[in-house]
Amino acid sequence: MTSEGIEKLIRPSLVNFVGYAASKSPETLVGKVEVPVEDIIKLDANENPYGCSPRVNAALANYPDMNIYPDSGQTELRKLLQAYTGVGSEHIVAGAGSDQLIDIILRLFIESGDEVINCVPTFAMFRFFMGLSDGTLVEVPRDENFMVIVKAVKAAITKKTKLVLLATPNNPTGTVIPRKDILEILDTGLPAVVDEAYYEFSGETMAPLVGQYPNLMVLRTFSKWAGLAGLRIGYGMFPTKIANYLLRIKEPYGVNMAAIVAVRESLKDKDSLMNRVKTIITERERLFEELKKLKWLKPFPSQANFIFCSVLKDKASELQQKLQKKGILVRHFDQPLLQNGVRISVGKPEHTDALIKVLQQLEE
Ligand SMILES: Cc1ncc(COP(=O)(O)O)c(C=O)c1O
Repeated sequence: MTSEGIEKLIRPSLVNFVGYAASKSPETLVGKVEVPVEDIIKLDANENPYGCSPRVNAALANYPDMNIYPDSGQTELRKLLQAYTGVGSEHIVAGAGSDQLIDIILRLFIESGDEVINCVPTFAMFRFFMGLSDGTLVEVPRDENFMVIVKAVKAAITKKTKLVLLATPNNPTGTVIPRKDILEILDTGLPAVVDEAYYEFSGETMAPLVGQYPNLMVLRTFSKWAGLAGLRIGYGMFPTKIANYLLRIKEPYGVNMAAIVAVRESLKDKDSLMNRVKTIITERERLFEELKKLKWLKPFPSQANFIFCSVLKDKASELQQKLQKKGILVRHFDQPLLQNGVRISVGKPEHTDALIKVLQQLEE
């Protein structure tokens, strides 16, 4: 068969699939920025600027059993997560990042013709995984402050609706969904995924209600608060029935041994990691105040480790390019409901200083 013939065999729904606009790795920017690659300030992927716990590095350097597959039942990992969350291990399933849990939840529930409600603008991976499924994404716009409009969510429910996706704090806007709004959506009876990737920064969670509601699923990650984005480890808390289905359909060894060791060590070092979270929250508030002083940016209050800003003068894409040239990476957005904005991850105080200095120069 010719390569054209082979291409014709690809699922038609994926021929025009555009993929995910992932953050740029600094090494791909050699020659495109005015600073050495090692001096690039990466504020484009909501990563933790302080790295992981030093205990993780030490434990991985000495880990003897890399040749052995991890426990596919995640027995120790789920126990560790029970101790951390207070939610019973029978409710918990871990994945290679919470991304992988979004994927398997959709695989569990969604087949051709099914609808999933998504409160946009929101985390782009929801749309990504729906694009890989045969379901239909029903987009319900948030209000002008990026708050979920519960009435609109309810009005979007049809006989085909299988799931509601809710990110809180929301990415890229930093907005928290009030608890009463989540409860009202849960009261519709529809399965709801509450993605709490930034929980440690907001302090608000639905986790204690897992198991009490047959339709509540809560997702978390170690990528942000524990600085483990590179190891890919997230988890979800589910009604036991759903957890058992997910345990059956997940890849047996999806969570690698290095990630399991990293969770073990991070949880032993929880207090110092949470102190870093506090430092990031303090820095978020300082960054917000500094951004507010620039009359051509409108920052939105955030409960996460990043701040979304509308760019009131010039194009956000140009701002992103100008910052990139100076070695500061941020993410820009230009979508119908997210026009001309940039999302800036909270870095160390010196990163804020460098960013603000360049922004002030651009203002002149
Ligand atoms: C809302 C939200 N959910 C999930 C994730 C994915 O996290 P992980 O690194 O665990 O896959 C992110 C990462 O940016 C996010 O913003």
